[in-house]
Amino acid sequence: MTQNAVSAYREVPLNSAHKSTLAFSDDERAAVYRAIETRRDVRDQFLPMPINQDVLARILGAAHAAPSVGFMQPWNFVLIESLEQRQRVQKAFKMAQAEEGLQFEGERKQLYQNLKLEGITKAPLNICITCDPNRNGKTGLGRTHNPQMSQYSVVCAVQNLWLAARAEGVGVGWVSIYHEDRMREILNIPSGIEIIAYLCVGYVDELYSEPELQKKGWGKRLALDELIMHEKWEQE
Ligand SMILES: Cc1cc2nc3c(=O)[nH]c(=O)nc-3n(C[C@H](O)[C@H](O)[C@H](O)COP(=O)(O)O)c2cc1C
Repeated sequence: MTQNAVSAYREVPLNSAHKSTLAFSDDERAAVYRAIETRRDVRDQFLPMPINQDVLARILGAAHAAPSVGFMQPWNFVLIESLEQRQRVQKAFKMAQAEEGLQFEGERKQLYQNLKLEGITKAPLNICITCDPNRNGKTGLGRTHNPQMSQYSVVCAVQNLWLAARAEGVGVGWVSIYHEDRMREILNIPSGIEIIAYLCVGYVDELYSEPELQKKGWGKRLALDELIMHEKWEQE
């Protein structure tokens, strides 16, 4: 792939000199890339109807199909539907958000305060995805030198869920602004189990065509070309 093709990867045609016999058909590949490119973090666009049980089973199944270090599958999925529980979590979010906002000043502060950063009560379903780093014993294949691989495995499950949900017309929003202790208390998470992701999940009819934080001027997607190095870390 040329440098140009890297920066304009969306325009790269779906053909290549060698087509593996394992490659998907053109339509199937286009669908995979479409899910990746049009997946969004959703905060405000959730519709209130509950998620169909088959759809939920499929997106949880996609999460459970994720790769995991030593095949340890360290995840659990806590499904939160009751409004009371979601309101407790939202209150915890609001407190943490007020604290987080203190670090910004001027226009940036104003912008932060106007951002919608959660859909906890608007989404009919919240899912807390946890990691049990000791599921297969305190250490094990692939975790001896790098125990953090168990948490990384759970993040793979999150991304699988997020992409499968996109294909189902279900939006997902990741909420990370809370005190962990408070979240543990609300969800009765035992010590030894780690919270990896708190997700808001619900059907959506519309999505931003680009990251909402980009659209609202908070940040921009970096140029891919500038992030690729060859053979070793290249100093500027
Ligand atoms: C680990 C992680 C934590 C995140 N936490 C939040 C959050 O607390 N609130 C929020 O609005 N978005 C959160 N996001 C979503 C990001 O803001 C979003 O992915 C990013 O702006 C790119 O937009 P896109 O996902 O729509 O492409 C989080 C995303 C990740 C991967």
